[in-house]
Amino acid sequence: MYNPKSVSEYYNELSHGEWERLDQSAHARLVYQLHLDFLEPHLKDGAAVLDAGSGAGKFSVHIAGSGCQTTVLDISPEQLAIATQKVEEAGLSHAVTGFIEANIADLSRIPDNHFDTTVCYGGALNYLFENTAQAVQELMRVTKPGGTLLASVMSRLGVLRFVMANKHVDPKEFFGRPTFWSIYDVLETGDLPPHEDLAHPARHFFTAAELKEVFDAAGLDQIEMGCTPAVFSALRDKLD
Ligand SMILES: C[S@@+](CC[C@H](N)C(=O)[O-])C[C@H]1O[C@@H](n2cnc3c(N)ncnc32)[C@H](O)[C@@H]1O
Repeated sequence: MYNPKSVSEYYNELSHGEWERLDQSAHARLVYQLHLDFLEPHLKDGAAVLDAGSGAGKFSVHIAGSGCQTTVLDISPEQLAIATQKVEEAGLSHAVTGFIEANIADLSRIPDNHFDTTVCYGGALNYLFENTAQAVQELMRVTKPGGTLLASVMSRLGVLRFVMANKHVDPKEFFGRPTFWSIYDVLETGDLPPHEDLAHPARHFFTAAELKEVFDAAGLDQIEMGCTPAVFSALRDKLD
């Protein structure tokens, strides 16, 4: 089901909406803050950091502002252009060593063991389907031995909680239109196929066990996992 062109087009079209995504509500700001909490200990002055699947550069700007030599990478040229602009506006161009348009499943433009820390936040791994293992291998390959890979994905628990316990979502619409949201498929397999009424490209929603299996298979050790938005995804109004 992997279709890199549809992913790139979707994020080109989303444009500045991606920059605003993590600032729209208390829920979104908490998601941002929790991601920062995992990131912060790895932002040592002068460290080489890759922000893969950077989107509009929300985390890239923070990483560069922490004194790290930052490389920004995304499959969407529009997102990269916005990230470039955001880095410039923050006066941090000197801290960015490159803006690279590439697919994380093929990082052949980057040498082995290049980064102290590699970040892949915000779900780029959800779109990759059969290329997921390859992408994790690539993210590891470009990370120095002893370095850190930080990734976040959309979870199966999170999407099901969102559907079932969010007062803005009518469960009848979801469960009554199984071909649209394919909620039974998502429950069974994690796969949400593309649909003509859905702008979002096909995604796979991970369970924690599945994700751990991918990282184990890639040879990572000392894996630490956290489940954050999934726990409060249905509590957005209360968070506000
Ligand atoms: C939801 S945004 C996340 C942006 C940012 N990392 C964050 O966490 O806020 C996902 C980004 O991943 C990018 N992306 C998706 N698949 C990718 C791939 N295979 N290689 C590189 N970037 C990818 C998209 O273009 C999009 O900009």
